[in-house]
Amino acid sequence: MVKIAVLVSGGGTNLQALIDRQQAGELGCGQISLVISSRAGVYALERAEKAGIESMVISRKECGSAENFDKKLVSELKSHGIELVVLAGFLSILGKEVIDAYPNRIINIHPSLIPSFCGNGFYGLKVHEAALEYGVKVTGATVHFVNEVTDGGSIILQKAVYIEPDDTPETLQRRVMEQAEWELLPKATAMLCEEIQKEKDNK
Ligand code: GAR
Repeated sequence: MVKIAVLVSGGGTNLQALIDRQQAGELGCGQISLVISSRAGVYALERAEKAGIESMVISRKECGSAENFDKKLVSELKSHGIELVVLAGFLSILGKEVIDAYPNRIINIHPSLIPSFCGNGFYGLKVHEAALEYGVKVTGATVHFVNEVTDGGSIILQKAVYIEPDDTPETLQRRVMEQAEWELLPKATAMLCEEIQKEKDNK
């Protein structure tokens, strides 16, 4: 098995998609072993609890500095034997220490077709507001590796979603989740877990 940590900050519908796929036996050799939230009281933590998955809160505020936050994160990931880190609506930027501890082993879902509407300040509804404001007719979602550049790591999977004439940021966000995100993130996670397992088998 390949141990996965899912990092969240909010409602956790992408976490739920991962849990559902795992329960359906569709996450390959991946096993969600830990959920870490950057905020207390978010619904994603309830989803973890309902699924019987260990969870914890690591907030940047409580850690005092970005360095302490990164240190705490790496120490929890390592002590839980985590092999793949999945950012599912995680809104804190990861520092170099975390990225260096997991080279090509951290992935993120972003709700647009990168390189459109991405980078610093583009998260959640803001991404869909920007897409509608620009007037693009097609948007979508992207799963990519995480490196030091926000939304800048290489792309793993993308899926396009059409914009409807009467879309609001909220209706568009929902459709991008339903048609792209909840499918892409478990798929990319399963793909990477297979790869990691193969590497382990060959050692
Ligand atoms: C998702 O749409 C995800 O793509 C986005 O936040 C939402 C979290 O929803 N992430 C970003 O914007 C990252 N830049 P969820 O908590 O229901 O999964």
